[in-house]
Amino acid sequence: MSSLPELLERAEAAPYSLTREELVWLLRLRPGREREAFHAAACRVRDRVSGARVFLRGLLEIGSVCRKNCLYCGLRSGNPNAERYQLSAEEIIASALQVYRMRIGSVVLQSGEIDTPEHTALIEKIVRTIREATSPDFAIVLSLGEQSEETYARWRAAGATRYLLRIEASSPALYAQLHPADHLWRTRVDCLHALRRQGYQVGTGVMIGLPGQRLENLADDIRFFREIDADMIGMGPFLPHLETPMKTASMGEEERLCLGVNMVAAARLYLHTCNLAATTALQALAKDGREMALRAGANVLMPNFTDLGHRRAYQLYPGKPVVDEISGATPLERLCHSMEALGLQVAWNEPGTPPHYRVR
Ligand code: 5AD
Ligand code: SF4
Repeated sequence: MSSLPELLERAEAAPYSLTREELVWLLRLRPGREREAFHAAACRVRDRVSGARVFLRGLLEIGSVCRKNCLYCGLRSGNPNAERYQLSAEEIIASALQVYRMRIGSVVLQSGEIDTPEHTALIEKIVRTIREATSPDFAIVLSLGEQSEETYARWRAAGATRYLLRIEASSPALYAQLHPADHLWRTRVDCLHALRRQGYQVGTGVMIGLPGQRLENLADDIRFFREIDADMIGMGPFLPHLETPMKTASMGEEERLCLGVNMVAAARLYLHTCNLAATTALQALAKDGREMALRAGANVLMPNFTDLGHRRAYQLYPGKPVVDEISGATPLERLCHSMEALGLQVAWNEPGTPPHYRVR
């Protein structure tokens, strides 16, 4: 294998130029000078493709009801202790418009998976109303799980332009260990293709530090993002939830945090033009977890705009910050300052369409 400076220079010059072994080697780096050089190279790529900027997405957790039973998730249908809620159309629309008025370039509507005709129609109506009340630049992003292609098409026609659906683990064998037998890896991949066919900007991602997951799996996850032609990536450390079958982690918190941030840097160096989120799950492991990701090549932040009462109930994983210091009016000003301290400009009012989508 080549020296680190040669390897980074090659990775910076062109996307997809690292081998699987090189990705693994980078992922293994622990705090120190080599790791700093690795993250700095990823930041240079970010700054070149989308500027030294951070794009904002206002997150609304619109409901905690889910028909799925993923073994790691606190909202799984098999968890009787999960608090279930569903916001009304009026509440969702009002919050989305608040996000818009705060000059956030996009809103994300996220919930557990529901596939009833009533729910499909409700989302369609909500998306259409938000679309009509906002500028065409404002991006409406959905994160509502696996749906039929027809449903994806209806929501797209109503005005949604982006969809987030994590593959969770790109290895079918690992995926099978994380899910009940009727949750199929193949179905999820088919959904990603359907979203692409319907013209969405497609986001996907994985959890990091899962039991049974090897560095080689993570390197393959990054290669999978290329294969599936993803525009946006959201990844976070696995955070064991006591009310799920996966209540223990196989890796310490420090290590998962270090690896989580390395994944952002490696994905940036390999993919170049995708949007990469600094996720809240990183913040659950360290107060400045998201800042670490921004210093490793991430360019997206998703402040939570769910009202505090419901935010408490949306417990995908434990330690999920309830009070997010970057949502709300004054905190947003503070956010500007902390981003400037990182040498990054907040891109107000900009949808932040991933360069990957624009050239595709
Ligand atoms: N730890 C970390 N992330 C989790 N998610 C669900 N449960 C957990 C957990 N225990 C993530 C999944 C899902 C996203 C909405 O939340 O990746 O796609
Ligand atoms: Fe439902 Fe998503 Fe949790 Fe799976 S990860 S149980 S689909 S909310």
